[in-house]
Amino acid sequence: MTIEFRYLTQEQVIQLGGLDMALAIQDVEAVFRLFGSGACVLPSKVVLRWGDSDSESTRGRINAMPGYVGGNCDMSGIKWIASMPLNPIERGLPRASALTILNHPTLGFPVAVMDGTLISAMRTGAVSGVAAKYLARKDSRTVGIIGAGVQSRTQLMALKTVLPALSSVLVYDIREERSLAFCQDMRDRLGISIEVVATSREATSHVDILVSATTAVSPVVKQRWIPEGCLYCQVGGHECEPLALREFDKIVVDNWSEMQHRGAQTLVWAKEQEIISDEDINAELSQIITGKKPGRENAAERIFFGAVGMGIEDVAIATRILRRAEEEQVGTMLKLWESPVFV
Ligand SMILES: NC(=O)c1ccc[n+]([C@@H]2O[C@H](COP(=O)([O-])OP(=O)(O)OC[C@H]3O[C@@H](n4cnc5c(N)ncnc54)[C@H](O)[C@@H]3O)[C@@H](O)[C@H]2O)c1
Repeated sequence: MTIEFRYLTQEQVIQLGGLDMALAIQDVEAVFRLFGSGACVLPSKVVLRWGDSDSESTRGRINAMPGYVGGNCDMSGIKWIASMPLNPIERGLPRASALTILNHPTLGFPVAVMDGTLISAMRTGAVSGVAAKYLARKDSRTVGIIGAGVQSRTQLMALKTVLPALSSVLVYDIREERSLAFCQDMRDRLGISIEVVATSREATSHVDILVSATTAVSPVVKQRWIPEGCLYCQVGGHECEPLALREFDKIVVDNWSEMQHRGAQTLVWAKEQEIISDEDINAELSQIITGKKPGRENAAERIFFGAVGMGIEDVAIATRILRRAEEEQVGTMLKLWESPVFV
């Protein structure tokens, strides 16, 4: 029997709704609910690198992130994503590039291979969007953004989707040209006022929501900087000074065991240095979404949200894209084989 799978380029992923943030947020929230009810399978990430964890900032890494999503999604798959932090700086190329493979959950055969780069950026934004829905103040108006790369773009798209009243953005990047390009791009895309600031300190002052999504190798968010009532979404993993964690009223994560498995994250280092303990992790996002733990309880709380990222988020969005591709007959069908040589 001939086995074929569908191949989708990034342009086709976009044609099929890949840039629709409202749908991405819907998919990601559904995944967190399914995950919280035990309907997903999430093996730990595998990290391929060429040295210790510090080498990731120079030589880069490639992560394998498999998962099965149950419910109506009912799909298994894997994201295979490379991160080369010097690409944007030295080569004018994106840091990340990914392929996502979807496999039939019963037969196992691949049903799709597609660009996973855009889906990955969208789901990372959507995770913060879902977090903001439960953890940000509803009257949030101002966002501070540290790092003006790819993730910061989808972070802002997601925040604006869940909090449409957001009206002002402060952005800081160590490379000013990146901040200026971000301003131009996102102002046009979202119709929101964006101002470039000269320091990460300025990007944190008087903001209702702070996002840091950088490739920084040392902390850029320091103690006593976080304003009262602020939600801080740390995307890059280690922008926050570990001691500053003690100033938060709540610490929420996507998946504490996976974060510890992955390492290379502020929260993990803070635990290793005994600045925080397991008890200081107030909740995983799925527990808040399913009502098992409270989200924001008052306007004054400072809340830290950290996400390590889960392959099931990519599988869910890729499945939505695939189903539309099947309906609209988009993509290129490729053969795995015409007839298998051995059975
Ligand atoms: N948690 C998750 O699920 C998840 C998912 C995707 C990416 N990430 C992480 O998010 C981070 C950003 O990814 P990206 O795709 O936007 O990368 P990017 O290379 O497109 O952007 C990173 C930006 O950070 C800036 N930067 C570096 N050092 C800085 C500093 N000290 N101060 C301010 N800005 C600085 C760079 O100039 C660059 O513009 C990476 O660390 C990546 O690993 C996390």
